[in-house]
Amino acid sequence: MPRICRDDDVDLSALSARTIGIIGYGNQGRAQALNIRDSGFQPMIANRDDGYKDVAIKDGFAVHPIGHVVKEADVILMLIPDEVQPQVYESQVKPHLETGDVLCFASGYNVFYRTIEPPAGVGAIMVAPRMIGAAVRDLYMKRLGFPCLVAGRETDDPQCLSIALALAKAIGSTRLGAFQSSFREEVVIDLFAEQMLWPGIIKLCLLYFEKLVESGCDPEIVATELHLSGEFVEIAKAMITHGFFGQLKLHSQTSQYGQLSRMDRMAPPELLACVDEAIQGIASGRFHAEWAAEQQAGKPNMRRLWQKAIEHPLANSEAKLEALRRIVAKSYENT
Ligand code: NAI
Repeated sequence: MPRICRDDDVDLSALSARTIGIIGYGNQGRAQALNIRDSGFQPMIANRDDGYKDVAIKDGFAVHPIGHVVKEADVILMLIPDEVQPQVYESQVKPHLETGDVLCFASGYNVFYRTIEPPAGVGAIMVAPRMIGAAVRDLYMKRLGFPCLVAGRETDDPQCLSIALALAKAIGSTRLGAFQSSFREEVVIDLFAEQMLWPGIIKLCLLYFEKLVESGCDPEIVATELHLSGEFVEIAKAMITHGFFGQLKLHSQTSQYGQLSRMDRMAPPELLACVDEAIQGIASGRFHAEWAAEQQAGKPNMRRLWQKAIEHPLANSEAKLEALRRIVAKSYENT
């Protein structure tokens, strides 16, 4: 099998004698269930009694209790939030698992951190779309694909990986490409973006706002320049169209020189130490333990951090520019 599998590399027959069960009908659950059904299978849906269950019924599915679906199905997709999976697994999934069943995860989180350890004879695979649920469905409908990371455990039957790849095809990913990966790689890539890349970008944006306002610039003009104009999005799109560095050529010579000559200064040793600390915290399980303790305590720090974020003066400027924000948002609706 190639490292990047496309439609022609993958045979759906690995799923033909299987009953597919989907636990959860949220972001990923709904998109994957509809795509799998449109790919010619009849997935069984399990959901607790809540609004998501009503959506599944509206979409034409019969909705069953979780235990029932685990009993009936032999390829079971865990599509509920990572934080609740261990508790749901222990109480409603594990008691009904049988030898030969395969549990499929859309992230590596619980398998890598061993908060879910399927028993001997039960396979654990990963089909992790690198795409939000709404787009998983939308791209499928447009006959386009999206990347996903696929993995099986070395200790499991190699047939499990064929099931993972077949699922990647059934949800529409292999139209673009499913990467053979590992639970660890998915976790490290995902959490490192969440703990280094995005907070780094957010912090620099806030510094940009704070320093310019401090130097006398109008906060609403700075907020417009920062993100409300949509230039940020255009640059991100140009990175795909022209390449990560190629897009620099769309900027003036002055801008190109400014960016190329200053970028290394933006990574002083203190920042590199934070970057190392973040990746070590993820790989060692230190962050996992911190987040588990935070949840156990009722998320007091999360509430405090949210409060601090929404009290930033940038939020105030954004609120004053609501009408402009709506106009720009509308222009991005169909892009
Ligand atoms: P979600 O937040 O949309 O999940 C909602 C679903 O979980 C509903 O069906 C709800 O009934 C069920 N649920 C919530 N709490 C429950 C509980 N205590 N007991 C039983 N059911 C419960 O979840 P989402 O975002 O679709 O994530 C599912 C998996 O997909 C996760 O492993 C996540 O890491 C992964 N993933 C999510 C992506 C996204 O776009 N949100 C992207 C790629 C992967």
